[in-house]
Amino acid sequence: MKKFYLETFGCQMNVHDSEKVVGTLESRGYEQVESPAEADLVLYNTCSIRDKAEQKVFHRLDQFKRAGGNNGKVYGVLGCVAQQEGQRIFERSPHVGLVVGSASYSKLPELLIRIESGERRVTGLSLDTEEAFETPMTRRDNPHRAYITIIEGCDKSCAYCVVPFTRGPERSRSSASVMAEARQLAAAGWTEIQLLGQNVNSYRDPTPAGWDFARLLEEVAGVAGIRRVRFTTSHPRDFVKEIVDAIERNQTLCDMVHLPVQSGSTKVLQAMDRQYTRDEYMRRIEWMKNARRAIAISTDIIVGFPGETEEDFAETLSLLDQVEYDSIFSFKYSRRPNTPALALGDQVAEEEKGRRLTILQERQRAIQLRRNSGLIGSELEVLIEGFNSATGQWIGRTSQNRVLNFTAAPRAAGAEPQKSEVIGRYVPVRVQRAGPNSLAGECAVAL
Ligand code: SAH
Ligand code: SF4
Ligand code: F3S
Repeated sequence: MKKFYLETFGCQMNVHDSEKVVGTLESRGYEQVESPAEADLVLYNTCSIRDKAEQKVFHRLDQFKRAGGNNGKVYGVLGCVAQQEGQRIFERSPHVGLVVGSASYSKLPELLIRIESGERRVTGLSLDTEEAFETPMTRRDNPHRAYITIIEGCDKSCAYCVVPFTRGPERSRSSASVMAEARQLAAAGWTEIQLLGQNVNSYRDPTPAGWDFARLLEEVAGVAGIRRVRFTTSHPRDFVKEIVDAIERNQTLCDMVHLPVQSGSTKVLQAMDRQYTRDEYMRRIEWMKNARRAIAISTDIIVGFPGETEEDFAETLSLLDQVEYDSIFSFKYSRRPNTPALALGDQVAEEEKGRRLTILQERQRAIQLRRNSGLIGSELEVLIEGFNSATGQWIGRTSQNRVLNFTAAPRAAGAEPQKSEVIGRYVPVRVQRAGPNSLAGECAVAL
């Protein structure tokens, strides 16, 4: 039996790509194992969004070099670092045998045959392949939430970002194929679907049906058996009012939107080539704030982009106060190969970036605590995702993507509920306590 180990870094798109890799390998008779030591094939699905992410894979590979080279194993680098570095990976880590970029997973079986027949260095780096978005072999780990890729690549040119280079130009998948997969998943018992793309808003059905993203959202939400539909990521420039209207009309579409802003300063946004001003961004926020349904909003922020002054940073802080995000992901600017911003140098000192990041995160923490506290006393529906034996609480997630830990009314006959029966159910939970990152409460229904 051929055994493989796979470790994934990076975003949800990478996590989902790994599910495709696992499915593809299993269909070829490979078996997944828990540690590199047990494996014949050691794979890393990599991320290069920031330097730290990229370094992770080289640390891993160096560990093996120190431990005595390849020990008869084949090492493979997949994903965004593979696409970015290509053949250079062989120079840097000579024991690597396989380098496969983000659009070439479907070629894995044939690449592995070449390795099995003795070739030492094999690459799959073409970006213009008509990649089948979903192989029939996808092996999904989560039995309730399923990812579906609807668009690959990115046509924007944000000055700091490697994604257009690592994932290539935008390619939308046909609506018929997305719908077929959504129905298949619903029939197999999945209840939550997350539509994926680097910029889902620019989805455009390549077939004559010609659906835009808002239409696709509503159609997926209409699939019988699907109770929640989420989507990531939205670029503000392509975020249209029709998306908010769709969320208002349709309870199955989750009441949350991730709308990365990056900076509160229009000057910095221009330097980043984000193609919107602070005011234009705020208009989109207003659509959501004015909706009848309360829509949770989250964002991504970069501090220390070249040229970001103390005043620019203050504008980002004021944007946090103005929007009152439900959550944020924040990062120190990191210089990336090939990107336009490389030419600007790295003007804000690391220490200063760290200082700004801390201030930003503290400010947001207070906002989150306030927003979460506002939910105390309300009843929210959660999808039960797990059980924490240390605290004796079930772990649920609300439609707005908040974690809500809760206890449930005891069962009549004192019988302990089977976790496998309970996980995956949707139940109402009354919120009793709030922290900055989660809620706690009680479910009146016995599980
Ligand atoms: N397509 C998504 C972004 C994916 S990358 C979008 O446009 O929203 C996720 C986040 O990583 C970005 O939103 C940005 O905040 C951050 N990021 C990207 N490149 C970065 C860099 N060079 N340095 C620091 N953060 C970066
Ligand atoms: Fe990167 Fe900008 Fe594309 Fe997002 S929209 S992936 S930040 S280039
Ligand atoms: Fe990283 Fe590639 Fe995703 S660079 S964030 S894994 S698209």
